[in-house]
Amino acid sequence: MLEWGELEQTCGSCTRCGLCQGRHHVVFGVGRRDTEVMFVGEGPGEQEDLKGEPFVGPAGKLLDDMLSIIDLDRQKVYIANIVKCRPPRNRDPLDVEQDACIDYLRNQVALIRPKIIVCLGRIAALRLIRDDFRITREHGTWTQRNGVWMTAMYHPSALLRDVSKRPDTFDDLLKIRQKMRELGIEYQE
Ligand code: URA
Repeated sequence: MLEWGELEQTCGSCTRCGLCQGRHHVVFGVGRRDTEVMFVGEGPGEQEDLKGEPFVGPAGKLLDDMLSIIDLDRQKVYIANIVKCRPPRNRDPLDVEQDACIDYLRNQVALIRPKIIVCLGRIAALRLIRDDFRITREHGTWTQRNGVWMTAMYHPSALLRDVSKRPDTFDDLLKIRQKMRELGIEYQE
C-alpha cells in the first residue's frame, strides 16, 4: 500500500491500460481524506478529463445538489471513480481497464478507511458490491463488507436522462443520512 503522495504520483503517470493514450488528466479523486463516507462513480467524462477533478460536468452539478439534500458536500466526503482516465465517448469502462485501475481505488479505500461507500451507478456497484448487482432492484439496499457499509444509487447521469428515477434517489439519500446517524458519523463544517 502506498501513501497519498506516492499513490497520486504513480496514478498520475499510469500507463497500465489504453485509456492513458487519450487523456488530458488522470482524475484521481477529490475531497476529505479523513472522511467516513466515500462516493465512487464509474469514470471521468469530458469535463472531468479536462479539469482533472471527478464530477465537475452536468452530472457533477446534480451530484452536488444530491449531496446538499443530506447536508453533505464535496469537502466533507471523498469522491473517486472506478477508472481514473476517460473512456472514449464516455463508453462503459472495459473489464480490462477496470482491472488495470482498481488497485488505485483499493489503495484509496485502504488509506481513508471509510465506514460507508456509496456506489454511483451500475458499473461501480457491479465492481464493488456484487458482480450480479441489479441497480434497478437493489439501489438503496445495504451490504456490509470487511466492516464497510456499501450501498448504491442511480448514477447522476441516469437521473439527468430519466427524472422518474429521482424520487427513489431521494429515498436512497435519506437512507444514507440514516445510516450515518446509526454509525455516529457527524461532520464539522
Ligand atoms: N461520471 C462518473 O462516473 N464520474 C465522473 O467523475 C463524472 C461522470
